[in-house]
Amino acid sequence: TAIRLADYLAPSHLIESVALTFRLAPEATRVLSTIRFTPNKARPGSHDLRLDGENLTLIAAAIDAVPVTAEPDATGLTLPWADLPEGPFTFTAEVEISPATNTALEGLYMSNGMYCTQCEAEGFRKITFYPDRPDVMAPFRVRIESDMPVLLSNGNETATGPGWAEWTDPWPKPAYLFALVAGDLIAHSASFTTMSGRPVALNIWVRPGDEGRCAYAMDSLIRSMRWDEQTYGREYDLDVFNIVAVDDFNMGAMENKGLNIFNSKYVLALPETATDDDFARIEAIIAHEYFHNWTGNRITCRDWFQLCLKEGLTVFRDQQFSGDMRSHAVKRIEDVLTLRARQFREDGGPLAHPVRPEEYVEINNFYTATVYEKGAEVIGMLKRLVGDDGYARALDLYFQRHDGEAATIEDWLKVFEDATGRDLAQFKRWYSEAGTPRLKATEDWADGVWTLHLEQVTPPTPGQPLKHPKVIPVALGLLNGNGDEVLPTTVLEMTEAKQSFRFDKLATRPIPSILRGFSAPVILERATSPEERAFLLAHDTDPFNKWEAGRALAKDLLARMVTDNASPGPDWLDALARVATDDSLDPAFRALALRLPGEDDMAQTLHASGITPDPARIHAARRQMADALARRLQPELAGLIDSLAEPGPFTPEARAAGRRALRLAALALVTRTDGGLRAAEAFRSANNMTEEVGALACLLDIGRGQSELDTFESRWGKDRLVMDKWFSLQILYAAPEATAETTRRLTDHPAFDWKNPNRFRSVIGALSGNHAGFHHASGDSYRLLADWLIRLDPLNPQTAARMSTAFETWARYDADRQALIQAELDRVLAAPGLSRDLAEMAERMRR
Ligand code: ARG
Ligand code: ZN
Repeated sequence: TAIRLADYLAPSHLIESVALTFRLAPEATRVLSTIRFTPNKARPGSHDLRLDGENLTLIAAAIDAVPVTAEPDATGLTLPWADLPEGPFTFTAEVEISPATNTALEGLYMSNGMYCTQCEAEGFRKITFYPDRPDVMAPFRVRIESDMPVLLSNGNETATGPGWAEWTDPWPKPAYLFALVAGDLIAHSASFTTMSGRPVALNIWVRPGDEGRCAYAMDSLIRSMRWDEQTYGREYDLDVFNIVAVDDFNMGAMENKGLNIFNSKYVLALPETATDDDFARIEAIIAHEYFHNWTGNRITCRDWFQLCLKEGLTVFRDQQFSGDMRSHAVKRIEDVLTLRARQFREDGGPLAHPVRPEEYVEINNFYTATVYEKGAEVIGMLKRLVGDDGYARALDLYFQRHDGEAATIEDWLKVFEDATGRDLAQFKRWYSEAGTPRLKATEDWADGVWTLHLEQVTPPTPGQPLKHPKVIPVALGLLNGNGDEVLPTTVLEMTEAKQSFRFDKLATRPIPSILRGFSAPVILERATSPEERAFLLAHDTDPFNKWEAGRALAKDLLARMVTDNASPGPDWLDALARVATDDSLDPAFRALALRLPGEDDMAQTLHASGITPDPARIHAARRQMADALARRLQPELAGLIDSLAEPGPFTPEARAAGRRALRLAALALVTRTDGGLRAAEAFRSANNMTEEVGALACLLDIGRGQSELDTFESRWGKDRLVMDKWFSLQILYAAPEATAETTRRLTDHPAFDWKNPNRFRSVIGALSGNHAGFHHASGDSYRLLADWLIRLDPLNPQTAARMSTAFETWARYDADRQALIQAELDRVLAAPGLSRDLAEMAERMRR
């Protein structure tokens, strides 16, 4: 049954304080709770007190020491109004839970012998009876009893003795931010002094043997703490900040107050084991979780419909941080690539939903690219509209006005209105309407006056047939025929369905650069000649649009290759060759320019222009394109590869990473002409994982690399995170007709531990990541995916539901493929005991 935003009711009772005692045992942990309740004056009347609770064995419960007679049901315990004292009262309970058999990885569970928790969104109800909703905030005291050497919870450690520890978190928080860890752990430690002089102990806790892999995460944490002080004036507020790395984790990481819990993939890194992309992601996720301390924890969400309040803002902040640490231009291009690949894909299919959804069945299904990434884009637009100063004033007001509260999107928009005097009623549609607007651009030119005509249309999405015009900030620059900028970047504010903008006193007809910096998450549609795109690729002063021009050239060409058997001509090849060899450009930018459009991206683009994509043809055309580029660039590639070699020891910083990225892009092209000679050599001589795995990928891409795969396996067989790469590469680079078979073979490998989410994703996620292989006309891959969803669902519904989104693009394809996918969705829906998570997803995707 669906939960609706419109049905929100304030809690009947608030909580003054919580004391918990955990007596840890793998299959019989006892949780004792003492909760001081008080009736909520904001909700007058005679209300029962409903406590959430799932999979709990109730041992005893009492209200002010009087035993409770009510029996729990499947989802909780109701304390009838008649049994409740008139004023504040104390509820105590003892329950038993079994962390060792908790395979859903939600609540208290065990990973590799250690106890850990994941409570967001609704996992705390699997720990004890509690009003498990974010608008109930309380200070927690936690006592842990266990013979494990390290015992951690939120806040500061306030007492400890043999076999126990007590933690006190003075900051009121909702239950979803609760965390507990107990295990045999080692800390990589450092310290930080905040801007007002508070010393903070920093620890990254890992399993013995991993302590040498924490330095980069620690460095990222320290830089994040400093950055949040300098950029947002936000200071840390406890004596200790702990991070724990766990191997079994459904998502990336979790911002529990003072005790962040991370998927070990986003903490552990050495040059030999982690790629440049891994390093960049670690930096971003460490920052993201740290930034949540203010945007998420000090100010939390009133209810889960407001999820984007903390996630969109925190993603926006981590994107700003990464841009400051690395390169804003490169970061923006990468973020837009992800946005289009994941969010536009979601927005264009059956799972489309607003940035602030209005109903859900299972909230875990709404930790999506729309809530996170489009949520961040919406904030970027707000900032563009009100300016940097307006944004800074609004954020100061937000922290001042809502600290300690559980807030809403209305509260968020109000601080912008109050700080800037702007009416945001229309802007709010970005939060309530799903779908990606199409922005059509045409122009007139006469008598020195250039007019830009814009029209916005948002196609219908499930449950929202009618859309309204949105406020679209369109960043525009104009160039003259010599490539000089005659109008520097100017933000046009579009508010109507159709609107025109005039620019006069121009000497010659300008070449427009529209939507600079990707100033709004829309699909720009404008008939542009290849010559004009090549001109912008060569001359645009906006780095995003410069890249975008090259991207559009490649996509136009690839589309014509797929539909009209066109072949790459000298115009595209020469334009790209010029960028690739232009030493005045950042190597990271050049590497991005050389990256050909992905196959799924191409399928999305063709579908959007009314063409049914043929995955096999896209695959073949893209390879043909790469071959042509390799031939064109052949004289330059060897020199490029040699000149980009990094002398000296590996450093993960952006400059060196950018050079490696361009070098590997060149290596991939050379590999298409030399049969893998150079790549095999690069694999042998690699002294870091970026180059080792990069060279291996080059070889796999041309159907070679078997002996290198074996070398890799014997070298890294004992390293889980590195072996995840070994699994996924083989599937991602398998030929379309061999993808399902390769996946099947790897699921029989003794190291395929399907209960570990990272390993499951590295294999089953790679299956759906190989576009031509996943959509092979046989339907083999569809069947294989559905088999694994059905198998994983009873153990880990969250990860099963997430992986099912591979099917969300079914409507793009031909009738045969549609029927095959629909049959698999039906088969999933017929599985006995299907979880609420996977059932909701499959139902939304069914025709
Ligand atoms: N708040 C976490 C983050 O954004 C995500 C946790 C999501 N977990 C879940 N089971 N839904 O970093
Ligand atoms: Zn987050």
